[in-house]
Amino acid sequence: MSKDFKRYLVTAALPYANGPKHIGHLAGAYIPSDVYVRYLRSAGKEVVFVCGSDEHGTAIPNQALKENTTAQAIIDKYDAQIKDCFQQLGMSFDIYHRTSEHIHHETSQEIFLNLYNKGLLTEEVSEQYYDDKANVFLADRYIVGTCPKCANPNAYGDQCERCGSTLSPRELINPTSTLTGNAPVLKTTKHWYLPLQNYEGWLTDWILKSHKDDWKVNVYGQCKSWIDAGLQPRAMTRDLDWGIKVPLPNAEGKVLYVWFDAPIGYISATRAFFNELEEKKLKYATPQRNFVNAKATDWKHYWQDSETKLIHFVGKDNIVFHCIIFPIILKAAGEYILPENVPANEFMNLEGDKMSTSRGWSIEMHEYLADFPQKPDVLRYALLTNLPETKDSEFTWKDFQAKNNNELVAIFGNFVNRALVLTQKYFDNKVPAQSSLTQIDQRVLSELKDFPAKIAASIDAYRFREATASVMDLARLGNKYLAETEPWKLAKTNMAGVATILNISLQIAANLSIVVEPFLPFTAVKLREMLQFNQLNWNEAGSANLLVVGHSLGASALLFEKMEDNVIEKQIKKLHDSKKEMELANQPVIPAKVEISFDDFSKMDIRVGTVLAAERVEKSKKLLKLQVDTGIDKRTVMSGIAEHFAPEQIIGNQVTILVNLAPRKIMGVESQGMILMAEDKDGKLRLLHPNEAVSAGSTIS
Ligand code: 2FM
Ligand code: ZN
Repeated sequence: MSKDFKRYLVTAALPYANGPKHIGHLAGAYIPSDVYVRYLRSAGKEVVFVCGSDEHGTAIPNQALKENTTAQAIIDKYDAQIKDCFQQLGMSFDIYHRTSEHIHHETSQEIFLNLYNKGLLTEEVSEQYYDDKANVFLADRYIVGTCPKCANPNAYGDQCERCGSTLSPRELINPTSTLTGNAPVLKTTKHWYLPLQNYEGWLTDWILKSHKDDWKVNVYGQCKSWIDAGLQPRAMTRDLDWGIKVPLPNAEGKVLYVWFDAPIGYISATRAFFNELEEKKLKYATPQRNFVNAKATDWKHYWQDSETKLIHFVGKDNIVFHCIIFPIILKAAGEYILPENVPANEFMNLEGDKMSTSRGWSIEMHEYLADFPQKPDVLRYALLTNLPETKDSEFTWKDFQAKNNNELVAIFGNFVNRALVLTQKYFDNKVPAQSSLTQIDQRVLSELKDFPAKIAASIDAYRFREATASVMDLARLGNKYLAETEPWKLAKTNMAGVATILNISLQIAANLSIVVEPFLPFTAVKLREMLQFNQLNWNEAGSANLLVVGHSLGASALLFEKMEDNVIEKQIKKLHDSKKEMELANQPVIPAKVEISFDDFSKMDIRVGTVLAAERVEKSKKLLKLQVDTGIDKRTVMSGIAEHFAPEQIIGNQVTILVNLAPRKIMGVESQGMILMAEDKDGKLRLLHPNEAVSAGSTIS
């Protein structure tokens, strides 16, 4: 039998504040955790839900380089953006923290010193790759080279994404720095290591024996393969000037490894939450959650009391850190509880390809919200019904449209709307009374009763897709009930029967407003408003007496709107356009040519000329034969621009021409000069004009 816990601490992976986050992140850790927490709160459990920005690691200063700004500006920008998106999407964190906060630096340093003082860290001097052009030691991710196992030329210093092998940078063949393209050099440096191998026996008992049956297969499998492969010491410090200083003498220029400090961020966030409650004497209480008179030290109940159930929601790339490394840190620090579960999801692909912000193949949260500001719940629903819970899943815009039109609009919205509109029509918008029940009524009521427990069981088992499907099944039950009983027809002969049907339908709608709340919180608010029903208590769900007879309902409105094809087509086009744009932006710029002297430059005679005539050249796809007025003379120039301009497009244009280039014969015609062009990364040519018309022959210098 599973243990009953007194309270819950739920964490959602702290997103890196180095760029926008996409819907794959939402499907991985965020929406599932929010559903879980909202359900717990509704069921009257004591729960604290923490998240925040992960603001350290090399990714931050590197992004600053890319955006030509400071690391501080980067974290401020993306912390605000991500936090705002989460809020608009209904993420109900009790606190959204930042790892740049003082309390987090303090907590991380305390835990580091705790381990250090107990002699649980080893000090090692080793050789590591250094980019002597950028003057930095290179994090594993910033070194690429050929995989020694599968010969993939683009393997990273920590992993080959083609064959999945875990690598160390020194295993790579022909390593290069992704920062400068330089071959890195080895340089000695001192670091503090956590000897993970010392905890193998303990991990085997804790994960492989105790959690074999309650951890998800994908999570358990990853842990097992790590443990089976044998754990290695792992450096807990880095050479970097951005991060939390190593709190030791002689540790100049060293910071804590980002994967040491980031998960400690969950602890700091909890501390900050209770500090704030105490400081502001906040009466943070709901009928179920009593934080009145909270003390700053209450965070300890959540981290150091075995009656707390700690759950980490993460994506699959975070499993090892949350199941192996952070638990070892907690165990080594002593006094801390360990996660009961880490229900990690796999990845969500997009329209047949891996989601990636840098390749332009993603749907960023802020972009979705800008395009669909009134529809956070539609996204939540489309993700929830398609979560990558056991294997990678795929988001497509067509499926998004279908989920909206065929389920949210046609089933959920339609049912609620019919129940409300019919009550307005026949019973003056007041809940009518039940009288004698037909067999159908009885069957529907008995099915209704079982829904909340079924949904709860799926949530408790972290099967959010299944839980979402059951919520929609409850709406489906209501919809089918109205279709079967046809109260609009029955109204001609049996108003008592109509009253019973509408009473039951409204009870179903009230139940829906409770059970849908964890999944679609904005819809739940609207529905409760329409029903004038304020209760949000999961334990009441299943009842057929949520709305008393005679209760006045509010105004009805449509919960969801149909989405037209053109809206979806626009999104698909946008996705393809952004991929193309990123491909261009990511193409390397052609390196500068060798330096020349001013004399070399001044030998070139460049003028503005006017194209007088242009014609295609027989047997050549590329060439146009141009007549150009150079101001000095009128001459013939052969130009390789036929694939970019039609002859009539170019006639009359001012162009830039190198007039003292030695003449040469091209396709039997003497070309006297060269038209200068700008060539895009994609090879597209454009003419160079003066920004105002000038007389032919004007010089360019
Ligand atoms: O993968 C990520 O986005 C990490 N920033 C997650 C950190 S989770 C926790 F450890 F803070
Ligand atoms: Zn490989």
